[in-house]
Amino acid sequence: MKPGAADADFTIAQDWSAYTAGEHAVWRTLFQRQREVLKGRACAEFLGGIERLGVAADGIPDFRRLDDVLGKATGWSIVAVPGLVPDDVFFRHLANRRFPSTCFIRRPDQLDYLQEPDVFHDIFGHVPMLMNPVFADYMQAYGRGGLKALGLGALHNLARLYWYTVEFGLIRTPQGPRIYGSGIVSSRGESIYCLESPKPNRIAFDLLRVMRTAYKIDDFQPTYFVIESFQQLFDATRPDFTPYYARLKSMPDIAPAAVVQDDTVLHRGQA
Ligand code: PHE
Ligand code: CO
Repeated sequence: MKPGAADADFTIAQDWSAYTAGEHAVWRTLFQRQREVLKGRACAEFLGGIERLGVAADGIPDFRRLDDVLGKATGWSIVAVPGLVPDDVFFRHLANRRFPSTCFIRRPDQLDYLQEPDVFHDIFGHVPMLMNPVFADYMQAYGRGGLKALGLGALHNLARLYWYTVEFGLIRTPQGPRIYGSGIVSSRGESIYCLESPKPNRIAFDLLRVMRTAYKIDDFQPTYFVIESFQQLFDATRPDFTPYYARLKSMPDIAPAAVVQDDTVLHRGQA
């Protein structure tokens, strides 16, 4: 298939041979920077995943080579897409253990900030956690749950769960909080800020609390939710959400920076 010619499921060819030396260099710069920053900051599952994906260190990876390693580990594969895809398409890919990734990489003057996901965010950020069997199952369950939420008009609630776990999640470890969220690990500034800045709240994960919480897409997060373990996340999200969505309809949203009555506050943000 020609690059740019999208299928019904919005997949395209990655066209790996078309990347320039400059584009591979941007990847390597980002990769080496994050490898340093994430030591002692990312969780063991993420760091282990990156290590086992060795192919990713040299330049923008060829998705087919990643698939060999990822497929053997958890049965997931990567599909190339041109950018954001419609919700139902996204969920259907996840439900079938396919992770949609963009192909383009940011320009050298955008190393620190980019509003939309690029291949560094999608691959470096997401694929290491997909090497973990429990997290891999969580992502598939999320895809199935997404299709259901669409039918129930509850996508705004479910999208917050993705945001505060998959993209911006922290996990508690005996050594202190560690990062697993893809939006954090692919950002140098936020990798440091989320753990070391006194500004953001760090609050123990609670499913309904998270699904009530609005989020900011244009700045570092004012609140992070901290899970105890990936098993906790998987177990908390296993029940049918239909009754939760019904209850949420009569519960007001919580603002991104707010701390509420029943929160278990691990760190209260100081503006
Ligand atoms: N259990 C959820 C439901 O019934 C699906 C889900 C699983 C959602 C895991 C998110 C994460 O809708
Ligand atoms: Co992402």
